[in-house]
Amino acid sequence: MASLSLRGLRKHYGSTPVLHGIDLDVAHGEFVVFVGPSGCGKSTLLRCIAGLESISEGELRIDDRRMNEVDPAARGLAMVFQSYALYPHMTVAQNMSFGLKLAGTPRAEVERAVAEAAEALQLTPLLQRLPAQLSGGQRQRVAIGRAIVRRPGIFLFDEPLSNLDAALRGQMRVEMARLHAQLGSTVLYVTHDQAEAMTLADRIVVFNKGRIEQVGAPLTLYRQPANRFVAEFLGSPRINLLPSRQALPGAASHELGLRPEQLRLRPSAEGGRLAGELQLLEHLGDVAYAHVRTDDGALLVARAPADTPLRGGERVALDFDPEQALHFDAQGRRLEP
Ligand SMILES: Nc1ncnc2c1ncn2[C@@H]1O[C@H](COP(=O)(O)OP(=O)(O)OP(=O)(O)O)[C@@H](O)[C@H]1O
Ligand SMILES: [Mg+2]
Repeated sequence: MASLSLRGLRKHYGSTPVLHGIDLDVAHGEFVVFVGPSGCGKSTLLRCIAGLESISEGELRIDDRRMNEVDPAARGLAMVFQSYALYPHMTVAQNMSFGLKLAGTPRAEVERAVAEAAEALQLTPLLQRLPAQLSGGQRQRVAIGRAIVRRPGIFLFDEPLSNLDAALRGQMRVEMARLHAQLGSTVLYVTHDQAEAMTLADRIVVFNKGRIEQVGAPLTLYRQPANRFVAEFLGSPRINLLPSRQALPGAASHELGLRPEQLRLRPSAEGGRLAGELQLLEHLGDVAYAHVRTDDGALLVARAPADTPLRGGERVALDFDPEQALHFDAQGRRLEP
């Protein structure tokens, strides 16, 4: 376990700035998830921390020691990439022990570290197999095992589950959480997966164009986003945005944000704050999403029970509790009610 702090960290490639001054403190044992649109600088930041890229300006400290000029191998961290190339001609055990052997670690210690990591990752029965004899999820676990045996103070994960199918991802997500609880390690984790971010993170960092928009606990960001960008980025389907006056007569002019689960779909006869036409009821099994075109022209998505009897083309009403709505000013900043 180690702590990490970034102060005014900037990165530019030639004259192109990519990170514009990142300030962040990560505590011992914390699981911090980085999210943000493609190209916003998440991988670049991890690579700067790992020492695979130089830091143009600012400071990186690990356990309160300046690390900018320290060799990657001496920073006490391990990185797991999306593309986790295993050595194809080596067994699982050999893949996991390779780095330690290379570093001259005594044999008994290597064996103990591999056995422990294999146990934690449920790889013990597979130690003598070659990568080609493993499923994708098992290979992924070997890549994580390779990082674990080095007992790093900090794990850096760059979309480690992104090339697994949905079922395996779900399974590995649970294993990541279990592993973190077991090892208590400090983790920086990049993902595009909302469920991974919301369920794994102690705190989420939302990036946008090389800057941090907001840092906070998952539910805090979901319920009290600092601005429209964060509100739109977290939540799937996305938060609905519409001019306040369309939904709240007499309200000051600003933008209203309503999550799909905050909108209640009703037959038109029952009435509600908004009226419109149901364009599509999307059935997902346990739940349905209603796509409604309001009479003012807004296209809104409401979560509805799976057995909702309404059909596309019908007139419908939408209602919501005004207390739950988020409010944004013209610059996109959230207004306190
Ligand atoms: N070696 C490089 N030289 C020049 N520009 C680079 C280099 N590496 C990355 N960039 C640019 O830096 C920006 C940030 O890239 P980065 O890979 O960090 O984004 P990301 O947030 O990880 O995106 P994704 O979610 O797609 O992985 C991008 O605009 C990218 O084109
Ligand atoms: Mg990336």
